[in-house]
Amino acid sequence: MCGIVGYIGYRDSVPVLIEGLKRLEYRGYDSAGVGLIVDSKSIIVKDKGKVSNLEKLLDEKGLKSNIGIGHTRWATHGEPNVMNAHPHSNEDGTIFLIHNGIIENFNTIKMSLLKQGIKFQSDTDTEVIVHLIDSFIKKGNSLFKAVRLALSEVEGTYGLAVISSNEPDKIIAARKGSPLVVGIGNGENFIASDVSALIAYTKQIVYLDDGEIAEITCDSFKAKTIIGDDIKKEVIEVTMSLEELDRGGYDTFMLKEIMEQPESVLNSIRGRLVFEEGTAKLGGLENVFDKLADTKRIILTACGTSWHSGLVAEYMFEQYLRIPTEVEYASEFRYRNPIINNDDAIIFISQSGETADTLAAMREAKRKRALCLGVCNVVGSSIARESDSGVYIHAGPEIGVASTKAFTSQLCVFALMTLLLARKRDMSLVDGQKIVTEFQQLPDKIRKILTLTSEIEKIAEVFKDAPNFLYLGRGYNFPVALEGALKLKEISYIHAEGYPAAEMKHGPIALVDENMPVVFIAPSDSTYDKIMSNIQEIKARKGKIIAIASEHDTVIDTIADYSIKIPDTIRMLTPILSVIPLQLLAYYIAVKKGLNVDQPRNLAKSVTVE
Ligand code: G6P
Repeated sequence: MCGIVGYIGYRDSVPVLIEGLKRLEYRGYDSAGVGLIVDSKSIIVKDKGKVSNLEKLLDEKGLKSNIGIGHTRWATHGEPNVMNAHPHSNEDGTIFLIHNGIIENFNTIKMSLLKQGIKFQSDTDTEVIVHLIDSFIKKGNSLFKAVRLALSEVEGTYGLAVISSNEPDKIIAARKGSPLVVGIGNGENFIASDVSALIAYTKQIVYLDDGEIAEITCDSFKAKTIIGDDIKKEVIEVTMSLEELDRGGYDTFMLKEIMEQPESVLNSIRGRLVFEEGTAKLGGLENVFDKLADTKRIILTACGTSWHSGLVAEYMFEQYLRIPTEVEYASEFRYRNPIINNDDAIIFISQSGETADTLAAMREAKRKRALCLGVCNVVGSSIARESDSGVYIHAGPEIGVASTKAFTSQLCVFALMTLLLARKRDMSLVDGQKIVTEFQQLPDKIRKILTLTSEIEKIAEVFKDAPNFLYLGRGYNFPVALEGALKLKEISYIHAEGYPAAEMKHGPIALVDENMPVVFIAPSDSTYDKIMSNIQEIKARKGKIIAIASEHDTVIDTIADYSIKIPDTIRMLTPILSVIPLQLLAYYIAVKKGLNVDQPRNLAKSVTVE
């Protein structure tokens, strides 16, 4: 969703802001703008559409400035147009503000400002903040204090940055519910909503926490709480590299991320398997291990693809640990006053670690004193920092909006957790060692699947114009069916539904005719015979069958119209393999339709508003 970047220092800020905004494009947006101070005058340049449009406008104007803020907007209040794009300014155009999040009491504030005769220029909730700041400045406050006082009247969420031509040597930044980091340089400083926007310039990062406000000049940084207490912030060195943020020779980030799964999976399991003891080692869980081992119920909470990985984890935990496990949409969990017991463990799964609903669900669970664990990819993200404990999936930066490698890495972490806890319960050494061996073979097995791209591309060509798709699987592969359908709809805009294969008889089968492609995830496991019957039922109704099957299965070739073969592994690890052909199928269909797979319409990588 919306992206923020800001610069103050010895360089020309324009290229820094544009490069930063380009790094944030993956988050999803519909307009972009920058605010600069040039010769003591504030100048706003903004446009609808891509950052490249904004870049062209700035080139034409030939503006240069040592201080600036930039924004990509994902519309919430007010349609995506130039007027609603950020920055927004006060009436005399001296103060500029960019904002991520939603101001919930904007209407009340707007009414009172309108009564004072203030004129508004946009339909956004954001604009109220800049007028409110202005009203505090008119009462004689500094910019820093005025922003702080304005924010104490605001309800809702924000990550924001403010500059003023009357105090042109500073950027004020604040955060509540929307991520914001400060990048510390030499004679220059930065702010951004995401570390990736700054990594080309500095790896020294300060993470602002909720309710904090900072003043950044070219050579200083100070922070307070919104209520005015001084605070000391720690500077953390991040390890992310620029290469990790580039496409590495691939046409798209999504393809790169699909193709690097042998390495991302290896990174998720590296150093975490102990063959001699047939177990796993997860440093992030050590301080809560005893509590976790005794837990009577596990609840997994997430959104989107991460929710699907939670569904797979439910099968793992219940099969091996025999601990009752529930999986909840974070957006439902947070509002339905969930029943939480002392001996429950709640796991919050989030690639970004910033998804608004998942973060709010975690805060709600913390209020109820549950043991809260985070399973995140982005190091230093809000969920990672605020959870009691947790495990990083180490998939590396995921830029494509449709999640791919984060999903397989999340599954690795859940399988590692399962192994670790099962060995403390009743799993034998020999069984544990078998699982370790299967884990070690995963990267090579994924490599093998990735050699099938041209085969999958041909299937994509056949079905690229289908208006609907069904995805069916059983057991561990039911969530994979949901994930396959989600991948297809996210990037190809084809309507797709995932179902448990048997449940298809209770409705979806009515849709099946000779035009309906049905993807079956049918590896040779204990549900194989059952799923073969389901395939026959679809075949009898002339549906077109695409089967994901085990490599030695020749029977399936006699029934399916198309089959994609994957290596065998134990059931618990099968989804890590079976999902990969589905990622590729969705990818090639979208590419053949000429769509932008990395930034699909209306979607955002990190959904930071509820
Ligand atoms: C958005 C993204 C999805 C992602 C979901 C949850 O919808 O487009 O790819 O699965 O958010 O994100 P999280 O970062 O919490 O895993």
